[in-house]
Amino acid sequence: MINREDLLAQARAAALGAYAPYSNFHVGAALLFADGSVVRGANVENASYGLSLCAETVAVGKVLSEGGGAALRRGLVAVAVTGGAPGAPGQGATVTPCGRCRQMLNEVAQLGTTDPVVWCDGDAVLETTLSALLPHAFGPANLA
Ligand code: THU
Repeated sequence: MINREDLLAQARAAALGAYAPYSNFHVGAALLFADGSVVRGANVENASYGLSLCAETVAVGKVLSEGGGAALRRGLVAVAVTGGAPGAPGQGATVTPCGRCRQMLNEVAQLGTTDPVVWCDGDAVLETTLSALLPHAFGPANLA
């Protein structure tokens, strides 16, 4: 099973793929599933700034588009997020998922009925849970 440092390393590697010429803030996310698989994402910006996609959202899009129904059986057990200057993720202020990304992650978590641990990289690494970041979440269970 992957530990905290390994998943943070995966997130930092993912940040190398960021396309962020406008903010110059390179973010990487790594999603660990119960079967040991890891899905990564990086932020993808756009000249129309508001269209930019966060790293966690890119990762969730990969999971749900490539995994399909398999996501239902793959419990999301851990998430690592990092960000920072190009080539230097995890240095500086702790990077926590934005509000929209918390909701995106919640979709996958609820599908697999897990409450993943979330490791937020920075000079001080924050260890928390998705339910702490997004209490009383609305998700697929509400529409069942
Ligand atoms: N960003 C993420 O990728 N994830 C977050 O949770 C917070 C923000 C990205 C969006 C934008 O490309 C850059 O960081 C600066 O906000």
